[in-house]
This record gives sequence, structure tokens and C-alpha cells, in this order.
Amino acid sequence: MAHCCTVLTGLLVWSLFMLSWCEASRNNINRYDHSYGTFKSNSLIKRRDDITRLKSVARASLRLPTTVSVSDFGAKGDGKTDDTQAFVNAWKKACSSSGAVNLLVPEGKTYFLKSLRLNGPCKSVLTVQILGTLSASQQRSDYEDLSKWITFDGVNSLTVDGGATGTVNGNGAETWWENSCKRNEAKKCTKAPTALTFYNSKNLRVNNLRVKDAQQIQISIEKCSNVQVSNVEVTAPADSPNTDGIHITNTQNIQVSNSIIGTGDDCISIESGSQNVQINDLTCGPGHGISIGSLGDDNSKAFVSGVTVDGAKLSGTDNGVRIKTNQGGSGTASNIIFQNIQMENVENPIIIDQDYCDKSKCTEQKSAVQIKNVVYRNISGTSASDIAITFNCSKNYPCQGIVLDKVNIKGGKASCSNANVMDKDGVLPQCKST
Ligand SMILES: *[C@@H]1O[C@H](CO)[C@@H](O)[C@H](O)[C@H]1NC(C)=O
Ligand SMILES: *[C@@H]1O[C@H](CO)[C@@H](O)[C@H](O)[C@H]1NC(C)=O
Repeated sequence: MAHCCTVLTGLLVWSLFMLSWCEASRNNINRYDHSYGTFKSNSLIKRRDDITRLKSVARASLRLPTTVSVSDFGAKGDGKTDDTQAFVNAWKKACSSSGAVNLLVPEGKTYFLKSLRLNGPCKSVLTVQILGTLSASQQRSDYEDLSKWITFDGVNSLTVDGGATGTVNGNGAETWWENSCKRNEAKKCTKAPTALTFYNSKNLRVNNLRVKDAQQIQISIEKCSNVQVSNVEVTAPADSPNTDGIHITNTQNIQVSNSIIGTGDDCISIESGSQNVQINDLTCGPGHGISIGSLGDDNSKAFVSGVTVDGAKLSGTDNGVRIKTNQGGSGTASNIIFQNIQMENVENPIIIDQDYCDKSKCTEQKSAVQIKNVVYRNISGTSASDIAITFNCSKNYPCQGIVLDKVNIKGGKASCSNANVMDKDGVLPQCKST
């Protein structure tokens, strides 16, 4: 113990030294560029804040975490009693305490919850340990905002851990799926809640958690940075409408690894504003595959860059790896790598669709989101349709720098237009003309 503390203290001293050194060099740059006094003093205040925070994190790590259990705040966990207020009260306590805090949702119980907002910033370094089941209300009137069930907003350094048992159940079938206009055209299209939303958080971890039968999107990560998602299992039936597994938007530096997703929409969808997205060891199916987009809808400007999918197995999905953009958008989707992927019985194993339209009618437009530098490497398997590779790129902004390397998909041909494609080793099927 004494030895470990010496090491930790040494590390803390070293970190403080490095932080001071980095700040000092940043100040030098500031002074060089701007000789405004205010600029420098802001930076000094920030430095003091950083040091204070680092000290409290280090202090927290030297102590055992405090546990705050929802049952201490009156949560019943009988699956029927409304436990929402007990969760809010437990959150207030856990968030405002200092040091490392575990907010515990005990194992073996089911907590019935209406919509729930858990806001930061928190004083503590918080781990939410969901070992029991969270079960969503099926009454529309129980949702303050019809687009969200559980939301974490503005909580930095948050960990959500499901142990091996934690489950988040959106109970989407009756109220939400049955009444979806995607299922029944006679119904009016209305909003439906995302089961779990993480909004505006830095340093987020979501581990060992099961999420199922969301009302709509299962897990949404919006406007976050430095995110690790691992060992999650996300499930819903193939015909559940819009139940994207993990939806990533406006988020930088995110890794999703070792996860299993089977759902009614995209296993993972990556939307505009996302940068440096890593997906490793994903099992996907049923579902609509891994999608970038749709980008550029309603003539919007979209940017996505640095997406790597490395290691994935897709079975029986509508798409394998897909990039979709709407006509009339602008911006770019660039530096994308899909590699080491196995596909089994996938409708559209490899697809770029720049004519994506999810309305009843889309008109032809000149502009498009520019797609460039996309590598497909070591991808094999079988196509469930007679087209294994589709590159339907924009006439005015053809796809640039598409590379196929060791791609072997059996059972279908390639359909390519307006795409600048380079075939390297062993590519089957090949685009006949570009
Ligand atoms: C190709 O991808 C498969 C997974 O689909 C993997 O098992 C294999 O090791 C990869 N081959 C190389 C040379 O990386
Ligand atoms: C490809 O896109 C064009 C518009 O650029 C569209 O007219 C055509 O139907 C699309 N082809 C396929 C096979 O989707």
C-alpha cells in the first residue's frame, strides 16, 4: 500500500510538472501571437483550474469510492412503483459529493422509470453502476421530452458500467413501434424517445451494459469527446422501427469495441460533425449495418472524417458498410477505412449511395457531399442480392480515392458510377467502368 501511494504521488507530481510545462509553452505561444494582457491571465486562471482538478482526481484515486445507492433514496425496484424521483435524488447526492463516487443501481431488481435527466457538471468523479434493470414507462405522458428517455447531460469523466447484469429496457414494442408511421403508413409520424442519450460530455466510458427494445434509437452519443464504449450488447427485433444501436453525432475521438448489436435499423450510425471514430470487433445483425450518414439532408453542410472500422462480422443485414448522402448537401466525408470484415448473406455488402432519399420524393440537385479517400481492405463473404458492390456517386462531385484491396464477395456483381476506383490485390467483383 505504502509503495503504491509513493508511486501514485510520484505520478501526480510528474503530471503537475508536465501540465505546468505544457501551459508554460502554450503561454509562450500566446505571448508571441497576442500581446493582450487578458489573454495571458485567462490562461493562468485556466491553468490553476486544471491543476486543482487534477489534484482532486488524484486525491479521489487514493481513496475508496463512496457508494450512493438508489435504494437509500427510496427506489423500490419492484418494476411497478415509479422510481424516477428516487433516481433524481440519488443523482443529486452522487453528483454533488466530492471524490470518487459509485452511484449504484442494485442487482436483481427492476426499476420503473419515466423520463429522466441527469445533469452535470458534477463535483465527483462518477461511476454509475447499473447492475439491475431499468425499465421504461410506456405512457407517452410520462415523457417530458418525447425524444428522450434517460439523458446524461454535461457530465465529464463519467463511467457507466453494467457489470455483467445491468440492462436498460426501453419496452418499445406496444406504445412506440406499434404506432410508428414506418410500420403503419396510416399513422401520423411522431417522435419517439432515444433510450440512452449522452450529451456534451468529455471522457465518457460506457462498459459492460445491455440495452434492449428502445422506443427508438438505443444509445445516442452527441457532442461528446474522448469516448470509449466496450462490451455492450444492444438488441431489438429486426422489424423494430428506427432502433439504431449506437448513434454517433458531433463527437470526436470515440472508440466502440467488442460489442454485439442486433436491431431494426443501423447497428452503428455515424452522423455529421464526427471525427476520429474507431470501431473494433463488432458483431452486427440483424440490422441495417454500419452507416455513415445520411449526410447533407435538407441541403445541409456535413463533415465526417477519420472513421475506421477494423474487425467486424455482419450477418443477414440490409447493408454491410454504407456511406449515404442526400442530393443537395455539401461538405465532405473523408479518410474512411473499412477493413478485416466478414459478411454473411448481406443485401448490400459495400455501398456508397449519393442518391439517398428517405422522403417520398427527392429532386435532382447539383451539389453533393464530397466523398474522398475510402479504403476497403480484406473484406470477404457473401451477398444476398445480385449486387455486392454499389458506388452510386454524384455526377458533379464524383467519389475520389476509392481503394479496394483483397475484397472478395461472392454472389453479386459491382455497379459503379461516377467513382474513381483503384483495385489493388484480388478484388471480386470489380467495377467494369468508372
Ligand atoms: C482478414 O479479415 C479477417 C476477418 O474477417 C481476419 O480474421 C484476418 O486475420 C484478416 N487477414 C489479414 C491478413 O489481416
Ligand atoms: C444513382 O443515382 C442517380 C442520381 O444521381 C439516380 O438517378 C439513380 O437511380 C441511382 N441508381 C441507383 C441504382 O440507385
